[in-house]
Amino acid sequence: MNKKIALTGIKPTGLPHIGNYFGMYIPALELSKEYNTRYFIADYHALNSIKDPQKISELSYEVAATWLACGLDPQESILYKQSAIQGTFELTTFLMAFTSKGLMNRAHSYKAMVQNNIENSKDPDDGVNMGLFTYPVLMAADILQFDSDVVPVGKDQKQHLEMTIDIAQSINHNYKKELLKIPQALIQESTGYVTGLDGRKMSKSYNNTIPLFLPEKKLRKLIMKIVTNSQTLEESKDPDNCSIFSLYKLFANKDQQADLRSKYLAGGMGWGYAKQELFEVMNATLSPIRDEYNRLIENKNYIDQVLKDGAERASEIVSEKMAFIRKEIGLG
Ligand code: ADP
Ligand code: TRP
Repeated sequence: MNKKIALTGIKPTGLPHIGNYFGMYIPALELSKEYNTRYFIADYHALNSIKDPQKISELSYEVAATWLACGLDPQESILYKQSAIQGTFELTTFLMAFTSKGLMNRAHSYKAMVQNNIENSKDPDDGVNMGLFTYPVLMAADILQFDSDVVPVGKDQKQHLEMTIDIAQSINHNYKKELLKIPQALIQESTGYVTGLDGRKMSKSYNNTIPLFLPEKKLRKLIMKIVTNSQTLEESKDPDNCSIFSLYKLFANKDQQADLRSKYLAGGMGWGYAKQELFEVMNATLSPIRDEYNRLIENKNYIDQVLKDGAERASEIVSEKMAFIRKEIGLG
């Protein structure tokens, strides 16, 4: 039986962080055991905000190296850059004809920008380009071009997946056949949101991230910056309402967790101690991946080769899908 297809992508808009690692990279790579997997770097999505050619190119290499360092096997999975697959943009144009403007008006990220502009007495559409406004359509094309069965993403992408399904359903309804496979979001509910340095969701947009591949000293320094309350050393502390402990749980085994939990509850433990424990467990997990990342990022020719091979394999599948669609809709 043919394996099902899983696909996911990430924008090269900043250094990959711990939230991306647990919310996306790890669960997505887990799927390669069971699914045919396609992973990509959403560089045209990133272009909506990054206009500096050198920066977007460097960030794209960093994301590619992250995929590989986290365990992506380029023989088994397809790794490619979004911009390399011409068929994606043709599919986007087709999807546009079935996407109501009203649907785009309801996108959380667009609405949040408009709201923010209004609050700051600016024009509601200030800083909104059409790439950003139509972001969900390109994302739908990324997914639908491969007949993806599942799309592993963090919670914040749920609405984008609902929009993809909405667009695909109106197309299938119009042509009275399943031109496009209806995908399913695989949301990592158990991880929920990984918390950042300030206790909010870790996100590049909040400037509160712990980048995955910081050198050891910088990692320690950043962990020491995690915001804590002003409880004294003697006081008993609540592990279940603490950013340090919630990060610790992601890296530590059950025994380590139980041990630190009892230290929190007993009192006599300062925040500096908890942060040091967090640093140690985090560093132990991340240092082998960091070494691999550092090796890869110095080896851009290898990354280029992997991406070229991935683009060829992906393009072949997408060209076939587009030829089929063109014929079915009367353009072929
Ligand atoms: P950011 O919010 O930092 O810009 P992205 O939007 O690039 O992150 O997210 C890339 C992927 O990582 C998405 O699937 C997203 O849901 C996931 N992700 C991002 N931040 C977190 C987090 N704090 N916890 C869990 N998953 C996250
Ligand atoms: N919007 C996703 C994010 O910000 C990135 C992305 C683009 C994506 N196209 C996709 C994710 C297709 C899954 C499937 O994280």
